[in-house]
Amino acid sequence: MADDESGDGQLEARLAEQEAFEPSDDFVEQANVSDASIYDEFADNWPACWTRAADLLDWDEEYTQVLDDSEEPFYEWFADGTLNASYNCVDRHVENGAKNRVAIKWEGEHGETRTYTYQDLFREVNEFAAALRDLGVEEDDVVTLYMPMVPELPVAMLACARIGAPHSVVFAGFSAEALATRMNAAESRYLVTCDGYYRRGDPLDHQAKANEGLSNVDHEVDATVVVDRLGDNGFGHDLQRNQHDWDSLMSAHQGDRVDPVERGAEDMLFLMYTSGTTGKPKGVKHTTGGYLAYTAWTSHSVLDLEPEDTYWCSADIGWITGHSYIVYGPLALGTTTVMYEGTPDYPDRGRLWELVEKYAVDVFYTAPTAIRAFMKWGPEYPAEYDLSTLRLLGTVGEPINPRAWKWYYKHIGGEECPIVDTWWQTETGGMMVSTLPGVGTMKPGSAGPPLPGIGAHVVDTGGDEVEAGQAGYLTVDRPWPGMLRTLYRNDERFVDEYWQTHSDADAGEWVYFPEDGAKIDDDGYITILGRVDDVVNVSGHRLGTMEIESAIVGVEGVAEAAVVGGDHDIKGEAVYAYVILEDGYGGDDEMRDRIVAGVDDAIGPIAKPESVTFTPELPKTRSGKIMRRLLEEIANGEELGDTTTLRNPEVVSDIQEQASGD
Ligand code: WTA
Repeated sequence: MADDESGDGQLEARLAEQEAFEPSDDFVEQANVSDASIYDEFADNWPACWTRAADLLDWDEEYTQVLDDSEEPFYEWFADGTLNASYNCVDRHVENGAKNRVAIKWEGEHGETRTYTYQDLFREVNEFAAALRDLGVEEDDVVTLYMPMVPELPVAMLACARIGAPHSVVFAGFSAEALATRMNAAESRYLVTCDGYYRRGDPLDHQAKANEGLSNVDHEVDATVVVDRLGDNGFGHDLQRNQHDWDSLMSAHQGDRVDPVERGAEDMLFLMYTSGTTGKPKGVKHTTGGYLAYTAWTSHSVLDLEPEDTYWCSADIGWITGHSYIVYGPLALGTTTVMYEGTPDYPDRGRLWELVEKYAVDVFYTAPTAIRAFMKWGPEYPAEYDLSTLRLLGTVGEPINPRAWKWYYKHIGGEECPIVDTWWQTETGGMMVSTLPGVGTMKPGSAGPPLPGIGAHVVDTGGDEVEAGQAGYLTVDRPWPGMLRTLYRNDERFVDEYWQTHSDADAGEWVYFPEDGAKIDDDGYITILGRVDDVVNVSGHRLGTMEIESAIVGVEGVAEAAVVGGDHDIKGEAVYAYVILEDGYGGDDEMRDRIVAGVDDAIGPIAKPESVTFTPELPKTRSGKIMRRLLEEIANGEELGDTTTLRNPEVVSDIQEQASGD
């Protein structure tokens, strides 16, 4: 690519060959964690080592036991301690003399800005907590937040936490149907949403989607609150029965104060629905003590955050990354966290770098899919801005290839900033595998060793550790404070999905299986190879192929569908659909459009198939299972592996022909 040929050729060549990078002395000197002895310290004192994380919080009642493992795999952390997450993220900073420090810097797509000091955040969180109470929300009621990147979203999250009402945030890009599914699953009777938001200059009608979703909720919804983001550019929806305007509620509760509710460490802080192997999203349950301690600890040790920092994670709060590393981790540490409403390429491709310069960002955390897009656009965009305030860079969500890593290192970090490639999941609550930026050598493409105290391994099907260089399954054989506690109201599925495959329950050996493939090198560095279940990762967004398949099968005229992830330059993976039609229906463009629209309606635009191939049959094993591996190979234009176990091997060449004719 052009960017590799321009500039100093020798320097580029050196960078291309370099396999290991060290943090600079300057970085190490100021790092929160810079002594490698922390690995031994955690290993020797496990699980007591986790008091280091818990000590970052203020507890109402101190806990007496770090880990209770009497009912594996239902682990409990700091169980008899009590605390409040909103108090820890807001009040204590106000009380400790930081009331005028900026908590949230928000920038809208059009360049409008809003700044919340910790005092401002305190006021709004209290007022909204009072409003929620007034609407009837009680402790342990699940409040659904279907909101885009507006500051009212973290305010609402913290207000829920204040009164002990777990939130369930539904990504604003999800469809009305996806909202209804999640509200039904959680029997959530309260919704906070927004009239709309801006995308590439145009207002989007979010309220219409929210209302459509509400009409499909099976139970009574007691109250909906609507944030007015669009003002005069709005779509003019009237508030319906039980719907309230955010601003009016806030005025009605101006100056109100709500004492933070003392929550047990194991009380639920929030639910987050995520995709798994079956068609139904899983309600991942996170708790107050362990989750908050873990996100604060990893923000401190891996993101190296200091209260004085301006920190920006460019994820959306609708995903776990935004929960842990825009809201809870950074605010628990009293940092300034940046929120941006828009996309990286609007109004131009320099937008993010403009913001890094404008806010003098110290630490920046993003996804490899974004870095691949920046690479494609070229280094001239970041080069226009002063990025010299950056101290540390991070990535999350999917594997980053060494070339993208080096591009990020050179063109964003100016070869000065360490990069942390952080592997984790919705279920893990926080980062699990990554280098500590002030300690370890970085190897582009490899996330790094397990964090201190984390028992991550790469094993074969028999559970034995693989040799260096061999591929296997990633497992975690020790619990950690940030772990999910269960799937909401479904303990059985929790055990089945995460603990069945690699545990030996009779021997009392419980092993968590994240459903990722990985390999490990001689230094214990783990390289993540990707999901081994039916989950695709599109632009760092986790989607279940079964959910997409059931959306496609819901389209009139479709008999059967198989969905796989195929390689994609920017998105990492893209959705490839193979579809069998009912007799009497033709595989034409109109049908294709209806299928794409069906997926859009059921899930949202992120899940739309990149390609739809019509076929009279799908490749199946003799036992009738669809051979997805073959479809993946077809999607990627790869040479096909073994087809001898197929019941219908002849179908493969038909599909290949169809697919290449697309
Ligand atoms: C993938 C996002 C490689 C992985 C925080 C995991 C990664 C899934 C990395 C979880 C990484 C996340 N390198 N792959 N650094 N980080 N993944 O639940 O497949 O949306 O299982 O959580 O993303 O996605 P989720």
